[in-house]
Amino acid sequence: MTATPENRPLRPVILRVPADAADLSRPERVRRLSDLARQALRRSARLSGLCLGDLEKDPNGGPIPSGGVFWSLTHKPRYAAGVASRTPVGIDVETVRPVREGMYRKVAGAAEWALGQEDRLDAFFRFWTAKEAVLKTGGRGLADLSACRIVAAADAHRLSVSYRGRIWVVRQCRFDHHMAAVAGGEDGVDWSLPAGAADRFPA
Ligand SMILES: CC(C)(COP(=O)(O)OP(=O)(O)OC[C@H]1O[C@@H](n2cnc3c(N)ncnc32)[C@H](O)[C@@H]1OP(=O)(O)O)[C@@H](O)C(=O)NCCC(=O)NCCS
Repeated sequence: MTATPENRPLRPVILRVPADAADLSRPERVRRLSDLARQALRRSARLSGLCLGDLEKDPNGGPIPSGGVFWSLTHKPRYAAGVASRTPVGIDVETVRPVREGMYRKVAGAAEWALGQEDRLDAFFRFWTAKEAVLKTGGRGLADLSACRIVAAADAHRLSVSYRGRIWVVRQCRFDHHMAAVAGGEDGVDWSLPAGAADRFPA
């Protein structure tokens, strides 16, 4: 499909955290990761042909659209990411790691888990990142977790999530023991990953 302003894919950008960040104090590390996520965001905006101004947040920590551009960030110990869009957008990245049984009950109900695939851990991180990405579009974050429901799993990298009277299509990718999810945009997603990270990347 030819990209026109009406049908452009989202262009989320994921950057690798430099190894020396691990030596920083916790506040310095958080600042470094936050800066790196903003670098990823600015790259995403450039790739999408969007012009971002100052990045300000509301009292709840949610991003305020900048010059009409919606934006979202995530930063984890090894990767930071950002996405800019003409419409509301949310992004999340999580390290895939063992989780306690109680977390499954916290993240989704039985009807939602029935939509998941056989690999429970993969399903857990799909659901978790999908819900966080969708929740970030609303600005209330995890306070709205119970208002967010997985309603369909189209394939291994697409989930539909109901939130605030709308069905959000969430696109996902797996890379280097991480799961990424982006919510928003109607015209697909074109991920930018660090070189060598795309060990399990959906076609
Ligand atoms: C938004 C939230 C889901 C982020 O989860 P997380 O996995 O810890 O963090 P991530 O790395 O994925 O995302 C961090 C980014 O989310 C964004 N963010 C923070 N609060 C947000 C909100 N309410 N809505 C949307 N995005 C938000 C910020 O841009 C933040 O990056 P920054 O601090 O560098 O600007 C979680 O922090 C939350 O629910 N916040 C709601 C407000 C809240 O409860 N705050 C507690 C203050 S003590």
